[in-house]
Amino acid sequence: MTTDTAQAQASADRVLIFDTTLRDGEQCPGATMTFEEKLEVADFLDAMGVDIIEAGFPIASEGDFEAVAAVAKRVKRAVVAGLARAGDNDIDRAGEAVKHAKFPRIHTFLSTSPVHMKWKLQKTPEEVLAMVARSVTRARNLVDDVEWSAEDGTRTEIDFLCKCVETAIKAGATTINLPDTVGYTTPDEYFAMFKTVRERVPNSDKAVFSVHCHNDLGLAVANTLAGVRGGARQIECTINGIGERAGNAALEEVVMAIKTRNDVLPYATGIDATMLSRASKLVAAATNFPVQYNKAIVGRNAFAHESGIHQDGMLKHTQTYEIMTPESVGMGKTSLVMGKHSGRNAFRSKLKELGYELGDNQLEDAFNRFKALADRKKHVYDEDIEALVDEGMAHAHDRMKVVALTVIAGTMGPQSATLTLDIDGKQHTVQSTGNGPVDATFNAIKALVPHEAKLQLYQVSAVTEGTDAQAEVSVRLEEGGRAVTGKGHDTDTLVASARAYLASLNKLMVKRQKIAGAQQAP
Ligand code: KIV
Ligand code: ZN
Repeated sequence: MTTDTAQAQASADRVLIFDTTLRDGEQCPGATMTFEEKLEVADFLDAMGVDIIEAGFPIASEGDFEAVAAVAKRVKRAVVAGLARAGDNDIDRAGEAVKHAKFPRIHTFLSTSPVHMKWKLQKTPEEVLAMVARSVTRARNLVDDVEWSAEDGTRTEIDFLCKCVETAIKAGATTINLPDTVGYTTPDEYFAMFKTVRERVPNSDKAVFSVHCHNDLGLAVANTLAGVRGGARQIECTINGIGERAGNAALEEVVMAIKTRNDVLPYATGIDATMLSRASKLVAAATNFPVQYNKAIVGRNAFAHESGIHQDGMLKHTQTYEIMTPESVGMGKTSLVMGKHSGRNAFRSKLKELGYELGDNQLEDAFNRFKALADRKKHVYDEDIEALVDEGMAHAHDRMKVVALTVIAGTMGPQSATLTLDIDGKQHTVQSTGNGPVDATFNAIKALVPHEAKLQLYQVSAVTEGTDAQAEVSVRLEEGGRAVTGKGHDTDTLVASARAYLASLNKLMVKRQKIAGAQQAP
């Protein structure tokens, strides 16, 4: 899509969806994605109909730059944006990263609120205005499509905000984003801000206005929709609502609110809603960031009816308790069809039904793991298959893998674990004891992979029902103020625990490399 078409599409009722899962989303503690995971997410967003993909913050590290450049080269349909502060180096780096995109965008931002200007920037309003003009002009010399954001826009004095917006548009900004950076605004206030700025700024018709809301008070989606009512025609959001602190407005919630309540929200997006559930699972697996069970639209319980009264109503007529169908967001009903006698073709069509498109190698790998699971587990549910495929995709590039684990547990301690890991293609075995089988297993990992990271969370849940259900284990590790979360699945809780711990360690390694890269950045 060209800038012209983007602007044309942003007319009257069409609202552009700007996804920032790979930038604001990846910024949240513990949600680091590897290079390959970022490409996979970008491909999915593009296929799902996202209009603009913010692929990262190129100046932040070499890894971020490479990821944005690679996303820019492969995305077929969407605009690809790279984020930049107002400095020349940031803008040039962003321009370099997106230059091979079919539709490149530089997104540059600067704080405009009194508290940010005084304490963070230590600049006067006049200096900030001059920086707005300079940064946008520099970005426009590199690309035709430039977005300018007034960081902390909702705590900015309205007269100064109008001046900044007018200056940015005069310098060539084609999109103006007024973010609620700290999640402070309310729907009425946000609506009024857009209305006022659009009415007062003389050249406001030359740009598309954009909303960007954080969820600190749980109002991100409500504020987003209010901003659209106030005239914004671009929505910045993330899959599963991940992002700084309490996160950003969730893409799936915004899209389904517009679709389901089109009577009072008369807008359209280009998103294929039937891909929302898969997008959520893909991002949850890539970031190892769990989706809360009662999360709107994509949570495991979002379409589950438990109480007898609700079930009775649903059996009589689904509309008694359902305002949208699970199928409309791509969430198929749990079914029990796969087992150890199922063949490759059945498995392939099951994957297709669940929304997966795997290459031949990935399919073979997933099929082998499915067979191993079906040998151990009587009923293989859709959730089991999703967990198995997601885990395979999330860990395909890990440097360390669990090869074998034998644990001796019971009333007579100390419990012991014999563990074999594959580390960079070489196998290493160790035996350790501990205060319980989990402790013994984690001690064995520490013996093979010495590290200082602290265990912050160890959580076990079941993927499905029954005593032979797969365990889903989450392990959160913290090192030097940085936290990462890893997940593991297996019918054996201890094997799942070892996988989860190792998944976190693999993530920490990626994070360390990223930080080392950032320290070398200019
Ligand atoms: O929240 C915010 O203000 C941002 C900007 C960089 C757009 O993420
Ligand atoms: Zn943000």
